[in-house]
Amino acid sequence: MSPPLVVMVMLIGETILAVTLVTSLLLAAKHRGIQHHYLMISVFIIDMVVFKLLMISKAVDGSNGSFPWDGTNILGHLLMSIGVAFLGGMSILLGLRNVIRRDSRMFLPPSGKLHRVFGSAFIVLWIAAYLTGLVLYANNWG
Ligand code: HEM
Repeated sequence: MSPPLVVMVMLIGETILAVTLVTSLLLAAKHRGIQHHYLMISVFIIDMVVFKLLMISKAVDGSNGSFPWDGTNILGHLLMSIGVAFLGGMSILLGLRNVIRRDSRMFLPPSGKLHRVFGSAFIVLWIAAYLTGLVLYANNWG
């Protein structure tokens, strides 16, 4: 049986977001703060508003069994996604609060260290959640 359209949309969409997330991290490493911040905010909002909501709808529609989804790892995937939402929100807040804009460029002063800490944790957890999503896909449709 082939996967439903919504599952394919989630798979392809999250993969595009994964590539965009890594690109945005590389932009920060290359001190392209302006481009980095626009891309990160876009990834975060699209992920939360579109893909995480689709994921929740798939979790509760019964296609993975009923709560606590015995025999699947969707609960772990959901818990990781809650952590991602928190860490992403904190990274954006800490970025917006600490950043310095000068000559149409954006810098992070030493006081912005926490932004790097939360941002790095966000990226690690986001990728872990993405990988568990791929495992769920392989188990259900592979
Ligand atoms: C979910 C959102 C975000 C994540 C995960 C994130 C993550 C990161 C990480 C990991 C770094 C360190 C990169 C490195 O040193 O190699 C960084 C640097 C930076 N971030 Fe973010 N960030 C996010 C949003 C933002 C926002 C909203 C702003 C600005 C308002 C911002 C501004 C910056 C700046 C200026 C740097 C330093 C770039 C440089 O070294 O010149 N970030 N970010």
